[in-house]
Amino acid sequence: MDIERLNKILAVFEGEGGLISILQRVQEEFGYLPEDALFSIADFLKLPPSQVFSVATFYDHFYLTRRGDHLISVCQGTACHVLGARDILETAENCLGIKTGQTTPDYKYSLERVACLGSCALAPVVLVDDEIHSRMTVRKVKKLLTEDLDDTESQT
Ligand code: FES
Repeated sequence: MDIERLNKILAVFEGEGGLISILQRVQEEFGYLPEDALFSIADFLKLPPSQVFSVATFYDHFYLTRRGDHLISVCQGTACHVLGARDILETAENCLGIKTGQTTPDYKYSLERVACLGSCALAPVVLVDDEIHSRMTVRKVKKLLTEDLDDTESQT
């Protein structure tokens, strides 16, 4: 972790920083919350490290391990499930060569399963970063994940 980048962030919160805001800002900067950063934040706020770690692990939107550049979220809610979401998730795992919850070794992709994404009428649904891909099929997910997402525009 780049300590200078962290110190610049902490300096902004000098005298007015709340733990959650600092965690959010640090994650925004690094893409996750490095362990060293959590100890430094505890130091900065004069809190026991256990308190900082317990907040960081309590909320789902904080990540303690480095994530991929692209987050692939495969919906497993009821509407998506009945239309083959399980096969889609399995296909995504095979295409990326990782299991759900893991990140590819090159840190390009992270794969997760999520409950309803609120787009049931478009089921089954895969979310890539902020973009919904609707009415997915095994074939469509294979195509999506074998293309380089950095070079690809919308595929909905
Ligand atoms: S169940 Fe998948 S979007 Fe609602």
